[in-house]
This record gives sequence, structure tokens and C-alpha cells, in this order.
Amino acid sequence: MTHTESVLVLDFGGQYTQLIARRVRELGVYSEIHPYNVPIKTIRSLNPSGIILSGSPWSVYDEDAPKSSPQVYDLGVPILGICYGLQLIADQLGGTVDTSAKKEFGKALLQVDKGDDLLAGLNGSTTVWMSHGDALTGLPDGFEPIAHTPNAPICAIRHPKRKIYGVQFHPEVAHTQNGTKILSNFLFQVCGLKGGWTSTHFIETSIERIRKTVGTSRVLCALSGGVDSSVAAILLHKAIGDQLPCIHINNGLMRKGESEKVVEVFREHYRIPLTYIDATDLFLTRLAGVTDPEQKRKVVGKTFIDVFEEESRKLANTPFEFLAQGTLYPDVIESVSFKGPSVTIKTHHNVGGLPKNMKFKLIEPFRELFKDEVREVGRKLGLPESFLERHPFPGPGLAVRVLGEITKEKLHLAREADVIFIDEIRRAGIYNDIWQAFAALLPVRSVGVMGDGRTYDYSVVLRAVTSVDGMTADWARIPPEVLASASNRIINEVRGINRVVYDISSKPPATIEWE
Ligand code: XMP
Repeated sequence: MTHTESVLVLDFGGQYTQLIARRVRELGVYSEIHPYNVPIKTIRSLNPSGIILSGSPWSVYDEDAPKSSPQVYDLGVPILGICYGLQLIADQLGGTVDTSAKKEFGKALLQVDKGDDLLAGLNGSTTVWMSHGDALTGLPDGFEPIAHTPNAPICAIRHPKRKIYGVQFHPEVAHTQNGTKILSNFLFQVCGLKGGWTSTHFIETSIERIRKTVGTSRVLCALSGGVDSSVAAILLHKAIGDQLPCIHINNGLMRKGESEKVVEVFREHYRIPLTYIDATDLFLTRLAGVTDPEQKRKVVGKTFIDVFEEESRKLANTPFEFLAQGTLYPDVIESVSFKGPSVTIKTHHNVGGLPKNMKFKLIEPFRELFKDEVREVGRKLGLPESFLERHPFPGPGLAVRVLGEITKEKLHLAREADVIFIDEIRRAGIYNDIWQAFAALLPVRSVGVMGDGRTYDYSVVLRAVTSVDGMTADWARIPPEVLASASNRIINEVRGINRVVYDISSKPPATIEWE
């Protein structure tokens, strides 16, 4: 972390870890997440101004419970343990954690006992969000309790001299009433930070970091045309100029007119050197007969890199050392399976789907960020709003939106249905209220009647969701008349589709894409 002020979040596998880092950034302090077992040497070199220990699905007494080196407590850096983080502090510094305590999930009323430093400004009681099975029953030496709830007599603790704090609840979630205030107290009162970090600083330090990493090497940029890779390309172009040739691969899985648009915007508008490669045939040949969603993702990821490696050889005498991608935090978290019970949900194309023996080193400036944070960076870099507000599009493209086997004909149907649906959404003026909308072609044919004739054609599903970051989502309550006109137009204008359905599932338990 090259930022003068920064907070390191140690990840023990908790479901809200990413939210902690995000809240800290929202408060104007740069924050990065690292695995719980990051070597102490690395922590020292990161030189954080504060450390936050995240929650975890484990109990500190589990045999394989994740534990950081106890040396973190001797760094002289203020520490805040959240939930499991608090229990770990207690466990490692000689307190007691009771695993048989009453489990507590949901809202609880926190009674503040010592309302200075961490809990300053929180007088009396406040609602907090609990999600834990264990409770603290004995304090480690030198610690004192600063708040309690009816079920947890020791719900927040501190060691004011060593500046080590812990809370049993989750200040990072919106359900905790004064959560932001508590995090802000940690940053500004306990760590004594000044704040003021913005995405402009992110741009400056990223540029510095990219230049330092890359040196005089050349970076090949994989430009899909989506928001993330486009903002990444512009940021990298600003950092290293002509050392950054971009390649856009048309994998045959793009939406209607998308590849053409990418070429136009980057070559003509931004004047960034762009090589266009039409690899449709190779992708479709390799995908022929593949129906398993994970397999599709892997085939697309592998083919993508194969084409890149080949094209990069053509572009330079010496091989490129780096490959730039616009990978976001939710892509990383959903692809990497943390040890233990968490599972890989989908292998995201720009992360886990890449082959292990890949010859490139990856440059992913947005690995720590969420979509809306990348949009903000794009705004600062001068990208037009109409471009930034576009809905996300997955790396494997229509491969995961044509369910089951992929053929050119099916891709055509999915593309045509999609463009009509988006057009109707734009016309209704609701495009920007929706996180993501698309049509997916189902591997189902059904009987219909058109004019006097019988049809036996494909069905499409329309999917539109609202979300903040793609991690959770709800189906969008699109006005029925918009759905009606989309359905009418699709069935009338796209020959081969005779049925349209609307997806009303939320994530979880469904996901946004169907595959
Ligand atoms: P799911 O379907 O997992 O998607 O709920 C969450 C968000 O991620 C997008 N997505 C991807 N993005 N490469 C990407 O860059 C991928 O392989 C990929 N798969 C899904 C999806 O469109 C949604 O916005």
C-alpha cells in the first residue's frame, strides 16, 4: 500500500469482509484486504495505519481455525477485531471464549458502557447486527469491556494503551445503526488518521504502482469493451501510454453490434492502439457440444488466453510480460474458494477460468474495488456517463446466456431478443434503475400458434435485477407494460422464439446469470 494512510483488513473468510474495506474507503481512508495468513514481513512492508480482523465462519477452537501470527499485536498498529476478530484477540491474548454460549443472529440492543474513543458519540443504547455462535466470557489482561447486550455481557472491549479493540457485532453492515460512526471512530479517533482519500488518489497511486511494476516492459490489455476493462485500459494508458497495446477479441459471444462499438470508441474516440481479432470460429468450434456451465467457462477462459498468446507473439519480437484485466472484487471473491466450507460458485472467466500455466503476469488495478467504485474512477478519468452506466456483461458473454449447447443460430436468437429487451427498458426510462438486464435463451422448445400455423420454437427468459454490487440481487419490478411490449416484439420480430418468460428469483438463492 503506497498510500500514506491505509487500513489493512485481514480476511478470515467472513461474509462481510469486503464490506469492511469498502466502508473504510467510503470514510476516506484507503483499504485493502489480505488473507489472514499474510506473512508478518509483508504486513510490515505494507505499513498500515490500522488493522481490522474480519469475521469468520469458524470458531477459534476449531482444529483448522484460521489464525494470524500473534505478532500482529506487537506491531504497535491499532487493531479492531470484528466478531471472530474479537474472539481471536481474546483467544490469542489469554481471554476466554465460550463456544456453548447462546447463538445470536440478527438485531440486538447494545448498551454503551464507555462512550469515549471507539464508541464516542453513541450514548445509551443502539441497535447492532449480530451473527455469531461463540461469546467472550473472560477478558485478556489489560482489557476492559466497553459495551454489552442482554445476551453478551462482554460485547465490545478495548486495551486503550495498546490500542486493541474488538466488537462482537458487525459495524460494517447497514443494519447496525451507528456502524459507520464506530468505524469512523476507529479510523479518526483511535488511529488518528486524517482521511480525505478519494478515487483521484486511487488513480494517482495506481498509476505510480503500475509504472513501478511494469518498468519498461509492455502490457497487453484485454479489452472486452465492458465498463471494467475499458476503465482499466484508460487508466493503464494514462500510466504507460504506448507500452500498452490493446487487443479486442471478438469471441463470437458478444452482444449485437458490441465489437464494432468497441473498435470505434477506442480507435476513434480515445485514439488508443487497438488490434481487432475475430476468433468467432475458434471459440464456437471449441464450445461445440459443451453443455456444462463450468466447462463452458473454462473453455472460454482457455481459448481466450490461447488467442491472446498467439496474437501477442505476432505483436512483438519479445513476449509480453503482463496482461491487464478489469477484474473486480466480487469476481475474485466468488471465484476463489477460501479453505473450508465456502465453495466456488462460478469460475469467473477473468479469474479462476484462466489456465494455471499462463505465461502472463496479471495486472488487475481494480481487484480491490466494487463496480460503483470503478464507475467513479471512470468518471474521474473523463469517461462519458452513458458509457459508464452500461450494465455489467460477463466475461464468458453469451456462452452463459445460451443455456446448454451453443450454436450460431442460438446465439443469434439470444442476441436479437436481448437487444429488443434493452431497447424497451431504455425507452421506458428505467435502464439506470436496473443493475443488469438481459435475455437468455433456454434449451426448451414449446408449442405455439402463429397466424394459422403451429410453431415449435425456443423460449427466452428475460432477467432484470436490482443490486448494489452484484453480490446479492433482487428481481426488478419492471412495469408489466414494458414486459408486455418486450415480449410482443421479441415473438414478432425474432423468428425462432415463440415464448418469453420473466425471471422472478433473487440472489441468493439464484444467481444473476443462469449459468
Ligand atoms: P452471478 O451470475 O454470479 O453474477 O450472480 C454476478 C455478476 O458477475 C457477472 N459475471 C461475470 N463477470 N466474468 C465477469 O467478468 C465472469 O465470468 C462472470 N460471470 C458472471 C454477472 O454478469 C453479474 O453482474
